[in-house]
Amino acid sequence: MASSVEVPKLKLNDGREMPAIALGTYLGFDANGVVEPTKDLRDTLSRSIDIGWRHFDTASVYKTEKTIGEAISMKIQDGTVQRSDVFVTTKLWNTHHKREKVMTAIRESLEALGLNYIDLYLMHWPIGLNEDYTHSDVDFMETWRGMEDAQNLGLVKSIGVSNFNKEQLQRIIREGTVKPAALQIEVHPQIIQADLVDFARSEGIVVMGYSPFGSLVMRYGQQFPGPKMDDPDLTKMAQKYGKTTPQIVLRWLVDRNIVPVPKTTKVNRLEENINIFDFKLEKEEIDKINSFDSHTRYTFPSFWQNHPHYPFEQVDNPIADPFKKPVEIL
Ligand SMILES: NC(=O)c1ccc[n+]([C@@H]2O[C@H](COP(=O)([O-])OP(=O)(O)OC[C@H]3O[C@@H](n4cnc5c(N)ncnc54)[C@H](OP(=O)(O)O)[C@@H]3O)[C@@H](O)[C@H]2O)c1
Repeated sequence: MASSVEVPKLKLNDGREMPAIALGTYLGFDANGVVEPTKDLRDTLSRSIDIGWRHFDTASVYKTEKTIGEAISMKIQDGTVQRSDVFVTTKLWNTHHKREKVMTAIRESLEALGLNYIDLYLMHWPIGLNEDYTHSDVDFMETWRGMEDAQNLGLVKSIGVSNFNKEQLQRIIREGTVKPAALQIEVHPQIIQADLVDFARSEGIVVMGYSPFGSLVMRYGQQFPGPKMDDPDLTKMAQKYGKTTPQIVLRWLVDRNIVPVPKTTKVNRLEENINIFDFKLEKEEIDKINSFDSHTRYTFPSFWQNHPHYPFEQVDNPIADPFKKPVEIL
C-alpha cells in the first residue's frame, strides 16, 4: 500500500480546522430510493483512513452515516487515528427544519454515526418540507437558530449551509448570531461559481465543492456536455505534472481554496484522488479551467422551484418529482 498522504487543513472562522479534501459518500438513487451501503463500503472507508482521508461528507438522507461511523470506530480501535484526527460533515434534511426538530435530527445523526459530536453540520437546503413532502413555510432562519442551539450544546462543533444562494447566505450572516463556517455548493469546470465563492471568501466562509468532476464522469448513466477525461487542455496539464485529469480538476479546486468533495468507492481512486497536494497549478492553468464555465448544474431539483426559498434559477419546464413517495434527492 502507498504511504498515507498528509492532507493540509484550512482554518475555519470559528477557530477550528478542516481537512482540505473530503470524501463524498452519497451512493446515488435507484427505483427504490437512495442506494443503501454494504459492508464493503465500511471496509473501503476504513481503507480510506489508511490512505490518508480524514474528512467524510455525508447527510442523513444518504444513509451512509452508520457505515462511516463503523469505519471510524474500527480505525480508532486499531490505533490508526483518534477521534480528533477525523472530521465528519453531515447534513440536516429538509423535513427537520423546525427549530425543535433540528435537535431531533442531530441526535439521530449522532446515534447513526456512533459519535458524541459532529464536526460540521450543514443545512442541506434552504427549503423546508413537511413530513409528507409538501412545502413547509418554516423559515430557514428558524432552522439556523436550531443549529446555533446545537452548537451551544457542543453537539456540533461548526455549522454551515449547503445549496444557499448569495442573498440567502447574506441573510444568514445578517440575521444569525453565528456566521456559517462553511458553504457547500456544486463546483466543477462547468459551474465555477466565481461570484459566490468570492463572496464566501470575503466573509471568511470556507467553500466546499461537490460533484467536482463535473462532465469528466458519467452522471445518471449519461455523458453531459463539457470537458471529458481526454480533453486536450486538461491532458496537457496532466502530462506536465505527471498527474491524471481527475487530479488536475481536484487541484484546480484546491488552488481556488475550495475543499473538493469527490466520491469514489474504488480503492485505486481513493489513492488517486487524494494525491493532489504535491503540485500546484499556474494562474493561466486555473484561468483555462475557469473558461469551461457554462453555469451548468447537475443537482437541479426544479420540482421544488415554487418553494419560496428555492435557491436556483427557475426553468420553464421543471422536472417531475422522481419519486411518488417522499423525494430523496441530495
Ligand atoms: N450538498 C449537496 O446537496 C450535495 C449534492 C451532490 C453531492 N454532494 C456530495 O458530493 C459528493 C460527490 O458528488 P458526486 O458523486 O455527485 O460527484 P463526483 O464526485 O464529481 O463524481 C463521482 C463519480 O466519479 C467517479 N470517480 C471518482 N473518482 C474518479 C477518478 N479518479 N477517475 C474516474 N472516475 C472517478 C465515481 O465512480 P466510482 O465511485 O465508481 O469511483 C462516481 O461515478 C457526494 O458523494 C456527496 O457527498 C453534496
